[in-house]
Amino acid sequence: MSRSTLAITDLLEDYLRSNTLRESPILAELRAETASHRLAKMQLAPEQGALLTLLLRLIGARRYLEVGVFTGYSSLTAALAMGEGSQVVACDASEEFTRIARAYWHKAGVDDRIELRLQDALKSLDALLAEGLAGTFDCLFIDADKPAYPAYYERGLQLVRQGGLIVLDNMLLGGRVVSPEPGEPAGVRVVRQLNRNLRDDERVECCLLPVGDGLTLLVKR
Ligand SMILES: C[S@@+](CC[C@H](N)C(=O)[O-])C[C@H]1O[C@@H](n2cnc3c(N)ncnc32)[C@H](O)[C@@H]1O
Repeated sequence: MSRSTLAITDLLEDYLRSNTLRESPILAELRAETASHRLAKMQLAPEQGALLTLLLRLIGARRYLEVGVFTGYSSLTAALAMGEGSQVVACDASEEFTRIARAYWHKAGVDDRIELRLQDALKSLDALLAEGLAGTFDCLFIDADKPAYPAYYERGLQLVRQGGLIVLDNMLLGGRVVSPEPGEPAGVRVVRQLNRNLRDDERVECCLLPVGDGLTLLVKR
């Protein structure tokens, strides 16, 4: 038992990654390739991927929706975790980043499980609602531009089934949520306010885990 959360040092993180992770070779390869990308720090942490895998299996997820694909680590994690016959709808606006994702989906043999929607994610979520897909997803993962998080969340809440899971990444924003600073990016204020709103949102159960940059888990009531 413990009364507080352990601060993770680099040494502990190395220990955790090399002694507890069961990352598949294809995910390890994608992580290694992305490490040399100029925006490598945008990639999901592998321990977050392990948690996502466990959660998707726990709820028996078959349909997963993602906002923010980058080079494909989280979408590939989901497709592998859910297995054959499952469906991933992956939303991103970047042809450049998702070219790498598509190559890895193909290499992993899961490209038939993943539909990429390549445009502004708000448009994709609106289109999914217009297509009558409300209440049909088991899980939504939000990992994109912070100012739009509340809009992604409101649309996503409609798209996820009752009892389904919503996961939001970067909810601690490298610690910047703690102390407001003059001139801070709009996204910081948005995430700070969203944390408070989610705590009080009766439509969901809510828990923020200090894994990676802060992962909020919501279950739709
Ligand atoms: C943090 S990265 C996603 C990381 C990814 N989940 C992973 O596992 O590596 C954020 C992604 O959001 C995308 N993005 C940012 N703003 C967007 C928008 N308005 N619509 C769609 N995608 C957007 C970026 O192109 C980028 O690929």
